[in-house]
Amino acid sequence: MLKSLFLHFSLIMYSQVIEFMHNRRSVLIKHMHEPGPNKKQLQAILTIACRVPDHRKLEPWRFLVIQKNARKRLGEALALLKTEQQYLEPEQIEAEQQSLMRAPVVIAVIASPVEHKTPWAEQILSAGAVCQHINIAAAAHGFASQWITGWTFENKQAEQLLGLNDKEFVAGYLYIGSSDDQPVDRKRPDLSDKVTWLTD
Ligand SMILES: Cc1cc2nc3c(=O)[nH]c(=O)nc-3n(C[C@H](O)[C@H](O)[C@H](O)COP(=O)(O)O)c2cc1C
Repeated sequence: MLKSLFLHFSLIMYSQVIEFMHNRRSVLIKHMHEPGPNKKQLQAILTIACRVPDHRKLEPWRFLVIQKNARKRLGEALALLKTEQQYLEPEQIEAEQQSLMRAPVVIAVIASPVEHKTPWAEQILSAGAVCQHINIAAAAHGFASQWITGWTFENKQAEQLLGLNDKEFVAGYLYIGSSDDQPVDRKRPDLSDKVTWLTD
């Protein structure tokens, strides 16, 4: 009796997870506002982020959690670097300075591959999984999030400014905040274009 009751509730819970996975969407940063996750919620999100497949347990990723004044400080430093690299209109400079302020919290997921018999690509795939785990964990905590790479992607000077070593790069900036926006779904792939069923 107790066992079948447990099974019944487990099935209800799993169907909620399936529904959640079907409906979860990224929310554009422009629709985000305060509050962001607090320290306890961030620790829960980061703990889930670390629970990704990781061949030979290399943990080839780490995090910069950018919040409060650090968003302004880092945004201004990156904006200055960008102006050294290319011409920007004054309003573009200001947008760059404000860039990290657009959400209460930004988690930079640093792909941190090492020399190892586990190929580089496998380590990077694990870092990508970390980014999506953050999207999922943030949504499960009731927050909006978006995965952004932006102009600093593979930009060596930006990576140095962020304190990365020469093997590392930012796999994604995960912007996290609250939102009243309910994004409508975007077009999803037709499975028949994507799947080849091998049956014998
Ligand atoms: C690796 C990666 C980098 C991305 N970088 C950007 C970006 O720089 N700017 C942007 O507008 N969207 C970027 N996106 C797309 C959004 O994060 C997101 O995929 C899109 O808004 C819809 O996602 P959803 O299916 O979770 O709703 C990136 C996605 C990935 C996977």
